[in-house]
Amino acid sequence: MSFDVLAIREQFPILSREVHGKPLVYLDSAATTQKPQAVIDALVDFYTQCNSNVHRGAHFLSDEATRRFEAARDTVAGFVNAAHREELIWTSGTTESINIVAKGMAQRLQPGDEVVVTELEHHANLVTWQQACLASGASLKVAPIEDNGALNLAAFEALLSANTAFVAMPQVSNALGTVNPVQQLIMLIRRLAPKALVLVDGAQGVAHSTVDVQALDCDFYAFSAHKLFGPTGVGALWGRRSVLENWPVWLTGGEMIATVTYQNATWGPLPSRLEAGTPNIAGAIAMAAAIKWFQQFNMVDVQRHEAELMARAVALGNEFEGLRLVGNAPDKVGVYSFVLGAGHPADVGFILDRQGIAIRTGDHCAQPLMKRLGVPGTARASFSIYNTLDEVEQLFVGLRKAQEMLA
Ligand code: ALA
Repeated sequence: MSFDVLAIREQFPILSREVHGKPLVYLDSAATTQKPQAVIDALVDFYTQCNSNVHRGAHFLSDEATRRFEAARDTVAGFVNAAHREELIWTSGTTESINIVAKGMAQRLQPGDEVVVTELEHHANLVTWQQACLASGASLKVAPIEDNGALNLAAFEALLSANTAFVAMPQVSNALGTVNPVQQLIMLIRRLAPKALVLVDGAQGVAHSTVDVQALDCDFYAFSAHKLFGPTGVGALWGRRSVLENWPVWLTGGEMIATVTYQNATWGPLPSRLEAGTPNIAGAIAMAAAIKWFQQFNMVDVQRHEAELMARAVALGNEFEGLRLVGNAPDKVGVYSFVLGAGHPADVGFILDRQGIAIRTGDHCAQPLMKRLGVPGTARASFSIYNTLDEVEQLFVGLRKAQEMLA
């Protein structure tokens, strides 16, 4: 399908609503993307036509729900180019995906082991590892960034050694939009830290690039549906089969067992051993619908469009006296974070909201990163496939007003 942003917008019912009497300008897609009608339809269709539990029933609806649910797994596994469908574990989202890995790792880490993260982490990919280290006696090493928000590659490399047991990194920073050269970093890890397992936090990367976990050569890739035009409350953990097969179980309960006695239990095979309890069936099916919807576009067109939005924001920001861009790494996507003079980001967000412009303000679940950059927080506009150049311009019109009001 050719890339026509106005035609794309028409597929998102929410984008035609008003807030505070003004047309909505939604610039908060890094927090959650809006949902196209195809995804809303998938949810409604499941609950109106097919609702039933999966893998359990002896009836028509349960069989149909199971087939749709497992077909959704195939779609999502294919989207990240998993080698095996059972490598794709349904979770409630990126945070739960990372927790499955970190809690398992906490049982394996030993004193003397090192876990490497970066200064760019969202709390979900930091607190998890910090707690795993505290529980196990392993040490946490934090790879520094440059002042522009790019990872310091030499410093990252210097942290890798035979003691490195785990490396966790974001594909794209949620607070700054920095794109990490993940493939290059993993090549370094494989050379310098041969025992390390590697997790890529794909929450912010997955809607802006093509993901190929085999080419990346990571061990785990975590992502959420809701940042990918799908519903909230569902996401996935991809893990290399040889690693996941023996991964410590996360939740125990129904579906994940092989045999149970009153005294003990044994665990079933992948993927069910890591999927105890009734899953988010409608969510998984709608996540697959979101991916199919997204896959109709050529990624080169998507990236060109998003680069145009970013370039316009950067150009307008450069001319805007008193506005300071926070994070200007050479490779960045989706996120335009800034501070406006002495104006507190929360006040900027409030004034923009009154003009119908939705952004996020605050520390973006990255308190240590804000401290590193010397700001209490930022105002963050984030862009997606459905945003227009006109909306970027409206942001700066709104900021003019905010600047006048805060003067
Ligand atoms: N992690 C999401 C964000 O950056 C919620 O806004």
